[in-house]
Amino acid sequence: MIDANTKICCLIGDPVEHSLSPLIHNAGYQALGINYTYVSFQVSDIKQAIEGIRGLGIRGASITIPHKTSAIKYLDRIDPLAEAIGAVNTVVNDDGVLTGYNTDGEGALKALEEVTALRGKKAVLIGGGGSALAIAVGLKKKGVKLVVLNRTEDKARKLAKQVNAEDSGSLERLAEISSADILIHTTSVGMWPKTSETIIPDELLHDRLTVFDIVYNPKETRLLIEARERGCAIVHGYKMLLYQAARQFELFTGRQAPLPAMESALTQALEGGRDATHFDRR
Ligand code: ATR
Repeated sequence: MIDANTKICCLIGDPVEHSLSPLIHNAGYQALGINYTYVSFQVSDIKQAIEGIRGLGIRGASITIPHKTSAIKYLDRIDPLAEAIGAVNTVVNDDGVLTGYNTDGEGALKALEEVTALRGKKAVLIGGGGSALAIAVGLKKKGVKLVVLNRTEDKARKLAKQVNAEDSGSLERLAEISSADILIHTTSVGMWPKTSETIIPDELLHDRLTVFDIVYNPKETRLLIEARERGCAIVHGYKMLLYQAARQFELFTGRQAPLPAMESALTQALEGGRDATHFDRR
């Protein structure tokens, strides 16, 4: 029950209406029976919103598009990992001191590490946006040999330089996948409603490969279906969403996240409890 002692956490972004974050976090609070609640705020002025966190004593916030980078300058401290990525997706309020974190990369790495070891492996990372960067920073920290490929080659080159990746190129170099151990797809290709699309020709998928598609709507993308058919190990995109939220949960509450309850709320929603056309990416 919400009462005078309820601790408030929230999502700050624009748009926010289709986000699954409230569902995942609230399922966790309910499972532990703790007096927290999680709401969404559609925000255009991030400076005012962060002043609001302080002014209202909001315990924690998830930060999403378009504020992940611009929020940084209004915070008191930035965790070194978030600093390296240059973006925050999480703000924790400790008695008025606001610290920014980035749990996106950690979430992705945890999802991958459930299926494959990382050190010394060769990974091909497709994409050059914010998600690709957060994951690339984590992969390099884990000792992965990284090749970044992107439609716009220049962005791949910049990202590769920023994280000290081994190599980069355009999508004309997809044949790199033949000699890779891990393939990570971070673009929006294959996302609902264009679920028949994929960037990767299936003949490049081989049975020594682990394939991780961060697209989670649909739950199993064409890329993952083809990867499974070709004998690859696969990692579903919803796992990244789940684990980045679980890490936020732990930062907000100091409690271990009840993963089964959070996962079941998320997968039920993805499997048609709600209208699949209405999900965006986060
Ligand atoms: P995010 O923060 O989720 O990473 P983003 O920053 O908008 O999102 O990045 C989107 C990525 O998807 C980019 O790498 C983009 O390629 P470009 O840099 O060439 O724009 C990639 N992308 C989007 N649509 C694509 C398509 N149809 N084919 C190939 N790549 C695509």
